[in-house]
Amino acid sequence: MATKMILDCDTGVDDTMAIMYAALHPDIDLLAVGTVWGNVEVERGTRNTLRVLDIVGRGEVPVAQGAAGPLLGGPTEYAYHVHGDDGQGNAGDAEPVRAAEPTTAAQQIIDIVRQHPGEVWLVPVGPLTNIATALALDPELPKLVAGVSLMGGSASAPGNVSFVAEANIWHDAEAAQAVFAAKWPVVMAGLDVTMKVLITAEHRDQMLAGGPAGQYMGRIIEFYGEFYRDMVFGDWSCAMHDSIAVAAAAGHLDVQLAPVVNVEVDTTGGPGHGQTLVDLRGKYRGYPEQEGAHTTVLMEISDSIADTVVSLITDFQGA
Ligand code: RIB
Ligand code: CA
Repeated sequence: MATKMILDCDTGVDDTMAIMYAALHPDIDLLAVGTVWGNVEVERGTRNTLRVLDIVGRGEVPVAQGAAGPLLGGPTEYAYHVHGDDGQGNAGDAEPVRAAEPTTAAQQIIDIVRQHPGEVWLVPVGPLTNIATALALDPELPKLVAGVSLMGGSASAPGNVSFVAEANIWHDAEAAQAVFAAKWPVVMAGLDVTMKVLITAEHRDQMLAGGPAGQYMGRIIEFYGEFYRDMVFGDWSCAMHDSIAVAAAAGHLDVQLAPVVNVEVDTTGGPGHGQTLVDLRGKYRGYPEQEGAHTTVLMEISDSIADTVVSLITDFQGA
């Protein structure tokens, strides 16, 4: 049976790939997408999400707009330098042909999860504001979902917005702490693995030579890869990030190391703000069971998922 999923995205370039993957893969039943601020303003993220779903012929998937800023208020910072001013590598195209749902992303989660108790994976790949809001509105949610597979945080890799913090967690550390504290199964696809699964120039060229989804993805990823070339890797390639959380929920990953451990988030406002504090003390004993632990932290995975996702997107020839 296909894995039921609700994505929650701050739709920039890597989110776009994750949406295409979830929308096109036959093993995944994409029930809905929520949008959240992060890479770009939430309105722009919503437009991008609607447009991307059109491109992959999934215009029937409901999209609900969510939070425009962090749970407790405070400033928003966007990542135009990584994802382009439009969140689509400055290469997005026409406006979407439909509007978002007349509900919020948080309420959409609650309504859909309650229609399919125990079956739905929440897959947040942006700041966790909508997920924390849904939790606050419906405290029974942890008993009703299959799990939460999120892109965010780091156990031992360097941060990407500060020396210890990853962007999705740092953007709304209080929301992230609420999500890690809730008693539901969490899979953390953090920088430990997402910085090691790369989209290469060959992947880009493969997509550009493919169908409409591949051509769009190949075009918008250029700018994102240039950021990674200039700021991170030195040659044109980029981190796949968000698709890893989708793959984890769908059971598509070849996982070599993923201990189940306790995770807390630094919400102190100090230099460690937004860091995921991952209890790896059991490493030398093969990670024995930790009391109360419910977060599976991906530490080592095969990078073959990049080929799988790129081929899926490339091969789509239109609805
Ligand atoms: O740190 C990487 C994450 O931040 C990805 O989800 C990217 O899309 C941005 O949201
Ligand atoms: Ca994202």
